[in-house]
Amino acid sequence: MISIATPLTRLLGIRRPILLAGMAGGPTTPELVGAVSRAGGLGVFGVAGMTPDAVRDAVSRALELADGAPVGVNVLISPAVPRPGADPDAMQAVLGPMRADMGLPHPPPPGPPPATPLELVEAGLEAGASVVATGLGDPAPVAAAARDAGAPLIAMVSTVDDARTVVDSGADVVVAQGAEAGGHRSNLHVPSDAPVPLVGTMALVRQVVAAVDVPVVATGGIMDGAGLAAALALGASGVQLGTALLVAHEAGVPAGWRERIRSARDDETIVTRALSGRPARGLPNALTGALDVPGAMGWPQQNAVAADIRRAAARDGDADHMSLWAGQAAALAGDDRPAAEIIDRIMDDAVASIRGLGDALGGAR
Ligand SMILES: Cc1cc2nc3c(=O)[nH]c(=O)nc-3n(C[C@H](O)[C@H](O)[C@H](O)COP(=O)(O)O)c2cc1C
Repeated sequence: MISIATPLTRLLGIRRPILLAGMAGGPTTPELVGAVSRAGGLGVFGVAGMTPDAVRDAVSRALELADGAPVGVNVLISPAVPRPGADPDAMQAVLGPMRADMGLPHPPPPGPPPATPLELVEAGLEAGASVVATGLGDPAPVAAAARDAGAPLIAMVSTVDDARTVVDSGADVVVAQGAEAGGHRSNLHVPSDAPVPLVGTMALVRQVVAAVDVPVVATGGIMDGAGLAAALALGASGVQLGTALLVAHEAGVPAGWRERIRSARDDETIVTRALSGRPARGLPNALTGALDVPGAMGWPQQNAVAADIRRAAARDGDADHMSLWAGQAAALAGDDRPAAEIIDRIMDDAVASIRGLGDALGGAR
């Protein structure tokens, strides 16, 4: 197995500087998490929205598949993001007809109250996860649990100031999330009524590397070996892959979503608050259009209000009504294949890219 050793791989006890982005809502199945860890990267579950029991089961199953390699859990820690003009009645007027079309009850039956990020992290650690990762907010609420378990704490940010904040809160690794990234923007502070700042991966990674003394992981638009080589050249210790691994055989991603990823244009993704009340990058569909109306709410209300619709659509493979999170480089994802093959290829291509650059030096050596 080709390895690349960096401060990140040494800290996490892995052989390849590649993290699977914890992707809540279905993509990070035990099979995907186990496969990425077994292939030498770090498999990470997105456990936001799960019950603690489901987290325990999923982590145990992934560890069985990981052949003794470590796995991690990722939680979303976001402060409320209010939205001026939020109107729950206006949202219900949109959702009623949509549920009728989809054969879903309106309003949906109430579910159990969501578990806190700390409860989810504790469940994951109990089941044997040995790395804790966070997105969207300050990791402070889970820092002591990670430290007490001896689990490295990885926090994702989208600005240099936020990188300093999460290190002060105990992060051992900072994931620098560039504007290209699929999924939610990981700005710790999201303005209610102004666009969220968007700093590109190249600009952000270099500045975060200069600002903090812990290993930095690049994420956002990294799809292949050239992307890994570029991240290492910028001073990152590794990469975190989201969209690139959505086409893995093991990912919990319906065929319609995979097809949209493969056929996406570079300028096709949008950053929208329509689905969750926080800005997030994905491919537009009927749901993003329908929920982007006056009266749309903020986080977490908007995230909860149509959760039943997104769940049913994901179960039925209905790409018009699920969240189609994807990054700007989605079209580079390629065909469906096993996660291990994706990771082997990225490693081979990264080594070839680095050697190629060395060769290009020619007479300058
Ligand atoms: C489908 C999807 C779901 C995501 N869910 C989460 C999540 O639950 N927690 C998290 O920290 N980041 C999440 N992200 C963001 C990733 O951590 C990462 O920032 C992003 O995928 C990087 O960009 P890329 O998709 O171009 O690789 C998600 C991304 C995608 C595409």
